Amino acid sequence: MSLDSSAIRRHFPFLNQSIRGNPIVYLDSAATAQKPDAVLDAMRRQDETATANVHRGMHVLAERATDAYEGARETVRRFVNAKHTDEIIFTKSTTESINLVARSLGSTWQEGDAVLLSLLEHHSNIVPWLQLKEEKGIDVRWVDIDAQGQIDLQSFEKQMEDGRVKMLSITGQSNVLGTRPPLKEMIIAARAKGARVMVDAAQLVGHAPIDVATLDCDFLAFSGHKLYGPTGIGVLYGKRERLKELPPFLGGGMMIREVTRDHFTVDDAPAKFEAGTPPITQAVGLAAAIDWLQQFSWSDREAHEQELLNTAVDELVQINGVKILGYETKNQERKTKNFHGCISFVIDDIHPHDLTDLLGQRGICLRAGHHCTQPLHTHLGINASARLSIGLYNTVEEIQLLPAAIQDAVKKLK
Ligand code: ALA
Repeated sequence: MSLDSSAIRRHFPFLNQSIRGNPIVYLDSAATAQKPDAVLDAMRRQDETATANVHRGMHVLAERATDAYEGARETVRRFVNAKHTDEIIFTKSTTESINLVARSLGSTWQEGDAVLLSLLEHHSNIVPWLQLKEEKGIDVRWVDIDAQGQIDLQSFEKQMEDGRVKMLSITGQSNVLGTRPPLKEMIIAARAKGARVMVDAAQLVGHAPIDVATLDCDFLAFSGHKLYGPTGIGVLYGKRERLKELPPFLGGGMMIREVTRDHFTVDDAPAKFEAGTPPITQAVGLAAAIDWLQQFSWSDREAHEQELLNTAVDELVQINGVKILGYETKNQERKTKNFHGCISFVIDDIHPHDLTDLLGQRGICLRAGHHCTQPLHTHLGINASARLSIGLYNTVEEIQLLPAAIQDAVKKLK
């Protein structure tokens, strides 16, 4: 059975709008996905019936809020197949989750210890490590990619060779090229060299099942808003024994056992890493998004998304001057097998910002820029690209609107 797009679209109130009389064609889900009414309703219900702080009060609203918040943690645990609920930390974003690990673990490192990244990484998985480089002399190393945006495994092995790599921190899916590193293979190889592994699953989480037990990574980070949930909530999965080794990141309420005038003792995870009032309603929204998504099978979702991306490639390659990043025109077979979630492209003599501005005026929403991946864009020899990214609410008909809209825009801009 394939996905019924028109039924899915009825779950999304954002579609009841138009832009200058045009229906919205939202092709920017890699930046943030839209929320179905199940998520909006759950968050509204939470705020209306259970607004209170968690793990603090004895009254009925505090109990409801705590139950909802801890229930959300259990939903996330099941979703990523973690062994223990205390391995799930709520943060505000993927960025915060990565910073938490970089700062906490990094504080135990010494000059010359290395972190290994790939050229596919988002700035959120680059800058925290560069901060450690500036502060402590950490060696930031890079794995190369090939012309199709696939990991160069020889370069990976070479970087691991001397045993100085303490951490492989790698994306599960590029937010620009839509390619996926061979995570399992890389994790096994990194482990064999004694390195820890963190997966930035911000993009992967909306497009593939996540199973931390099978992956056997030490840490994995993602955000609610790439998963049809709200902004302001991120997840850090950490293996129980790894979280024990990490010093806390932020200090404040809830993360302590005891505080005196000149000393404090730290609670166990997850409290240890959740100082301050957490994103309670957002956690409820994230759990609602996960529950909502479970009604669709992965194979149906994958088939639907591949059909959208196949169509996009077929349409875009017809347009004069378009170059799809990571797409080999000589080898048609590769087509979209390499692409997941998004496709990025450039057009000769057209700035992606100008293009997406004109498309936006007719309701077609794409992102343009370096997409927080300047090292990748520099490697590709460009400053910026345009990106279309998809969600379950997109249809083939929407993608088919692109060629005429792009050609119109190009005519105006030339
Ligand atoms: N990381 C998000 C993107 O790629 C914001 O657009």
